[in-house]
Amino acid sequence: MKPTIFITRKIDDQIVEKIKETCEVDMWPEEEIPVPRSVLEEKVKYIDGLFCLLTETIDKSLLEKAENLKVVSNMAVGYNNIDIQTAKEKGITVTNTPGVLTQTTADLTFALLMATARRLVEGSSYLRDGEWKTWSPMQLTGQDIHGATLGIIGMGRIGEALAKRALGFDMNVIYHNRSRKTEAEEKYGITYVNMDQLLKESDFVCVLTPYTKETHDLISEKELSLMKDTAILINTARGGIVNEEALYKALKDRRIWAAGLDVFQEEPVPLDHPILSLPNVVTLPHIGSASIKTRLKMADVATDNLIKSLKNETPKYVVI
Ligand code: GLV
Repeated sequence: MKPTIFITRKIDDQIVEKIKETCEVDMWPEEEIPVPRSVLEEKVKYIDGLFCLLTETIDKSLLEKAENLKVVSNMAVGYNNIDIQTAKEKGITVTNTPGVLTQTTADLTFALLMATARRLVEGSSYLRDGEWKTWSPMQLTGQDIHGATLGIIGMGRIGEALAKRALGFDMNVIYHNRSRKTEAEEKYGITYVNMDQLLKESDFVCVLTPYTKETHDLISEKELSLMKDTAILINTARGGIVNEEALYKALKDRRIWAAGLDVFQEEPVPLDHPILSLPNVVTLPHIGSASIKTRLKMADVATDNLIKSLKNETPKYVVI
């Protein structure tokens, strides 16, 4: 008998066909609406495998309902949406999709950095709103990217890919990470510094750490107060790493110059969130890995992880 799996969102037909070769597939049919919790709670009771997105909260109460579940395959590199401890206790394998999204996410991070520094979104609105009356010396002036110091918090795969891009723009790159990355230091000529030094010296601070209990509110009032008043904060990791209240105050009082945010504590970010009222913030709807090729590759890797786990083979990317 084929194992039964549930896919929590409508995904590419070809990928569904591939899964059907080895599994009985049940799929939430919507592309833009997440599966309701009540539906997920019913499905999880009988399935052998779950293919999910970062929008689903796979917590203790959900996992405890599962009777046959062998694998949770998350179509994301981050897995903070999954209660790893409970999965481990229940002997459920958890997999993710690193690697395939590294370059695409680094591209977006650098694009957001550039858009924020050079005020691209403001400039576009300025033109369309009919504000552009003449060329003037200090109109829409931003911060230089070339020659600036980029501080990367979290030197994993994406951190390294970002450093590589930054060097092409003649930036000076410093980083902070739980452990030193001597190979990356040698390869890219980047410098390890402590967190305070990174915050004090950087013109751009890019947050790229995983979201864990330890990194919750990693950037809060104290950290923001150490940054230059011309500095720009970029977050393409997870919203919870930056305390949004503290960030809002720092941006409003111009204690830092601007921020580029692809992620928020609550997603979708509520439209009345104070941060959206600020002109010195560029906001994106969590699209770091959103290129056509990369999203298809992520679905493919998640499929492979799922099928291998169900066949008792070792999947390529196991979290636990
Ligand atoms: C996206 O944020 C991911 O974790 O893949």
